[in-house]
Amino acid sequence: RRISLIGAPVELGAGLPGCAMGPGAMRISGLAAALAALGHEVVDGGDAMAAAVSGIGFGGNARHAPNIAGWTRSLEEVAYRTLQEGRLPIFMGGDHALAMGTVSGAARHARDIGRPLCVIWLDAHADFNTPMTSESGNMHGMPVAYYCGEPGFDGILGDDRATVDPANVFMLGIRSVDDRERQLIAERGVQVFDMRAIDEFGIAAIVRRILAHVGKIGAMLHVSLDVDFLDPAIAPGVGTTVSGGANLREAHLVMEMLCESGLTTSMDLAELNPYLDERGKSARLLTDLTASLFGRKVLDKVATLMTIP
Ligand code: ARG
Ligand code: MN
Ligand code: MN
Ligand code: MN
Repeated sequence: RRISLIGAPVELGAGLPGCAMGPGAMRISGLAAALAALGHEVVDGGDAMAAAVSGIGFGGNARHAPNIAGWTRSLEEVAYRTLQEGRLPIFMGGDHALAMGTVSGAARHARDIGRPLCVIWLDAHADFNTPMTSESGNMHGMPVAYYCGEPGFDGILGDDRATVDPANVFMLGIRSVDDRERQLIAERGVQVFDMRAIDEFGIAAIVRRILAHVGKIGAMLHVSLDVDFLDPAIAPGVGTTVSGGANLREAHLVMEMLCESGLTTSMDLAELNPYLDERGKSARLLTDLTASLFGRKVLDKVATLMTIP
């Protein structure tokens, strides 16, 4: 694969500062070298910058809206252009508001080539607030609502922007949803697999079904990984920890299944806050998980139950 690493040091979408250091920590943890060692052609394109925006002001509760609007415009363009060049972008965040731009740009490319876009959203949170429903005003809690076309975000991208069908958004690991957000995701038909579903069915059964669907409809696939998808015991470097998250083996299994499917076309690594991390632990885990998604395996050929005489 031809992979582009793109730093997206967005941090005003979160309630706490620190995510702007995320791309630096990901570079130190050796992401580029890990992917290159798997045989990929990797280019680090450096950090993107927010476009200058003024005069953005939608109603409701949305902190730092002009800054996030500027990031959305620039990251939408970078995602679109990178995919158009036939490369696979991996966005190193940066808080999750970055997905307002990255997913919108991927959706524009998919629309151009006449394919749907599916999103696998790995997160403790649904991030489906709008400025009208948000209690915190933090825009990292809003990207899915934005790229699914919810009203209330006027003037960020043009009215002809590409959006994602909520039925093509698959959420995994969810365990913290606000009241009005809960109502909205039910009304829109987002496919939500919370921790209870993971406990009951197992993460493999769920991921297998999602990937079969993505393959069947011939979609492009954006994978968005929020650090808080993971249990805080294995990934403490995030501002919005919620206990009871995915464990190490579940997280690697998702990545390995994504790898085998060959379906991933773009990716975000979001919400890493190195200021809150423990000696690089979370950054290293993100690098290991990304390596799993792009082909790192323990063995070339795993024994199956059938091979035991
Ligand atoms: N639902 C809460 C809010 O809207 C938390 C969002 C957390 N989002 C995140 N990307 N960590 O404020
Ligand atoms: Mn998130
Ligand atoms: Mn989250
Ligand atoms: Mn939320």
